[in-house]
Amino acid sequence: MQRLIVDTDLGIDDALALLYLFASAEAQIDAITTVHGNVPVDIATANIFEVLSVAGVETLPEVASGSAEPLSGSRVHATHVHGEDGLGGWTARGRVALGRLSEHSASELIVRLARQSPGEITLLLIGPATNAALALRDDPAGFRALARIVMMGGAVFEPGNVTSTAEFNVYADPEAAKEVISSGVTLTMVGLDVTRRVSLTREVLEGELGGRRDARAEFLRCVARQGFSFYKNISGWEGFYLHDPLAAAVALDRSLVQCRRMKVDIETTGELTRGMTVAERRPWIQGGENAEVCVEVDAAKFLGLFTEPVLRG
Ligand code: RIB
Ligand code: CA
Repeated sequence: MQRLIVDTDLGIDDALALLYLFASAEAQIDAITTVHGNVPVDIATANIFEVLSVAGVETLPEVASGSAEPLSGSRVHATHVHGEDGLGGWTARGRVALGRLSEHSASELIVRLARQSPGEITLLLIGPATNAALALRDDPAGFRALARIVMMGGAVFEPGNVTSTAEFNVYADPEAAKEVISSGVTLTMVGLDVTRRVSLTREVLEGELGGRRDARAEFLRCVARQGFSFYKNISGWEGFYLHDPLAAAVALDRSLVQCRRMKVDIETTGELTRGMTVAERRPWIQGGENAEVCVEVDAAKFLGLFTEPVLRG
C-alpha cells in the first residue's frame, strides 16, 4: 500500500490522475491539497468534491486548500486548456456541495501528516510546487519526514509547453520548484520527457466507454473533450497528454519508468528561460545530483494500467 498526499491544481488530467488513484488498491490517499495553477485555488478545491462524487469515494481523504499565489511573480492559469472550471465545463450542470475542509492549510497538513508517519508518505505534486515550498520553509524537519516526492513537472530533453523552455507546473512557480528540488527529499521528476509519450485519444475513449451514459462516462467525455479540443485547435490531433496520470502511476509503480540521477536546477530570472529545468548533462561533471529524472517510460504498460480502472470504472 502506497500512502500519498496529492497536491493538485485540479484540471482535466489531474482529475483523471485522481480517478486512477481512487480506483487503485495500491493507493491510500491520506490527503488532497490544492494549489493555484490550471485554475484559481478555490476552483481547484471545489473540483475535488466533483471528482470525489464521480469516483463514488466513501472514505473521504482530508482536504486542505492551499496557496492562491506563487511564492513570487504573477499567477499563471491554464483555463484555455482545462476550461474555465478546470473540468471542461462539467460544472455547468451545477456543482456538488463543497465538502468539509481541513482546519489546516495545505502546507501545514503536509508536514503534520509527514511528522505523524515519518518515512511513510509520498508527496505527489501534480501542480505548481508552492504548497510544498511553504511546507519546507515552515518546517524543514517535518518536510524531510516525507518518504519521497514524485513531481509531475519540468522537461530536460523535450521543449517546454507553456514556453519553448518551461513546463507549466514549474513555470507557474519556479522559485517554489527550485526550493523543493533542492530540499534533500528523494525526488522523482516525471517531466514532459516521458509524459508526452502517453496520451488518451478519442478513439480509445469512445472504444472503452461504448454507449455508456452514466455519470462517470459523461464526466470522462466532458473532461476528455476539453483536452481533445485544445490539441485539435493547435495541432489537429484529437488526443491529449496524460501528464498527471503518469505521475500518479509512477508514484505507485516506479518500474514504469527508467530514470537518470541528475543535478537539476530551476531558472528563475531568464527572460526567455524562466521556469526552465536545467539539468547537468555534461558527463565529465559529477556531483550534486538531486533528482531522479524520468527519461524512458513503458507507455504500453502504463496505458494498460490506466485504461481499465479509469475508463471502465
Ligand atoms: O504541464 C502539465 C502540467 O501542467 C499538468 O500537471 C497539468 O495539469 C498542468 O498543471
Ligand atoms: Ca496538474
